[in-house]
Amino acid sequence: MPNTGRLFLQIPGPTNLPERVQRAMDMALINHRGEEFADLTKRIWPRLKQVFRSERGTPLIFPASGTGATESALVNTLSPGDRVLAITIGEFSAAWSRIAKAHQYKVDVLELPWGSGVTEDVVYEKLAQDKGKTYKAVLTIHNETSTGVTTDVKAVRAALDRAKHPALLLVDTVSGLACTDLRCEEWGVDVAVTGSQKGLLLPPGLGLLCVNEKALKAMETARTPRHYFDWAPMIEKNRAGIFPYTPVTSLMYGLDVALDMLLEEGLERVFQRHYRLAEGVRRAVAAWGMKTVAQTPRDASNVLTAVYLPEGYNADTLIARTENELNLALGAGLGPLAGRAFRIGHLGWTNELEVLATLSGVELGMKLLNVPFRLGSGVTAAQQWFLETHGK
Ligand SMILES: Cc1ncc(COP(=O)(O)O)c(C=O)c1O
Repeated sequence: MPNTGRLFLQIPGPTNLPERVQRAMDMALINHRGEEFADLTKRIWPRLKQVFRSERGTPLIFPASGTGATESALVNTLSPGDRVLAITIGEFSAAWSRIAKAHQYKVDVLELPWGSGVTEDVVYEKLAQDKGKTYKAVLTIHNETSTGVTTDVKAVRAALDRAKHPALLLVDTVSGLACTDLRCEEWGVDVAVTGSQKGLLLPPGLGLLCVNEKALKAMETARTPRHYFDWAPMIEKNRAGIFPYTPVTSLMYGLDVALDMLLEEGLERVFQRHYRLAEGVRRAVAAWGMKTVAQTPRDASNVLTAVYLPEGYNADTLIARTENELNLALGAGLGPLAGRAFRIGHLGWTNELEVLATLSGVELGMKLLNVPFRLGSGVTAAQQWFLETHGK
């Protein structure tokens, strides 16, 4: 059966591109060391800082995926042998701890169960054991894309403050930024890292950061060898609106417009929209009689929902069938969730009807696999929620 119509790209990033962003990128290339490009980048910095919710921070943009940005955060603030506390709650937070180990930092892992969130107390207890206050950095993830769990970053900051611990707070917000609230300045995030392909409404290709004064101070003494991801030449060249090497010109055109779109809508409304759509999906899952990987509603992500299929049904088969037969791309279960769970992305440039169509596609797919649930129950539950909260 040919897949007609458009692909429903409901993985948790890359997300669907708004047409406005797509059109903005469909431009002839310009001289990336010329005045026109410098004007463009100088326009980007202040609005990018607004999205990171930081007035005094320094934004940085590398031609890289999110992983590049996470590596950049480490190599610019740490020296080989430094002690680091990595809080892991799933695949992506664990991946960051592995990058830290590869750079020969001494990584202490606070490994919490997949599906659980992070509380102030659990972080405080770990920090309190570090009597000599030897950790140079705490790594945490804002939104764990493998489990659909959001970390209360403010609580992690509160734990650091309660323990009077001077470690830097480094936050991976690759799938959180511009979807769910992160206040870099207010919450004392020293380095926040993200990628272009999720809440920022762009294709993959940019690794972005926002770093504060404390992180820049750490950079002055950090001895990890670095070149491509070195902040110092980047900051120096950026002052004049240019880059130490060739930037991704087309994505910068797109970023210019994506920032406009996010700020025109208003960040609070962007977050509320994500909450509403996510809640529709969560109600659908409950109506199916199934469970989310997120263990408590408090921790459930507004970016994506990871859903367990009942025992005896294979989530990878579901995903393959919805993609091949219904033109609906869903995210696979990662690591220990492979085959057991699937992920529905409801982030970025999307709306109620797309979410309803996605839920409808999941229902069709589950019926094709003979999963027991009442057809239409999830879609109806989501519709009811959208009606109850219409205009909110
Ligand atoms: C939370 C999180 N961190 C890191 C990454 C890695 O980003 P990238 O695949 O862009 O390198 C991802 C990718 O999905 C992610 O969701």
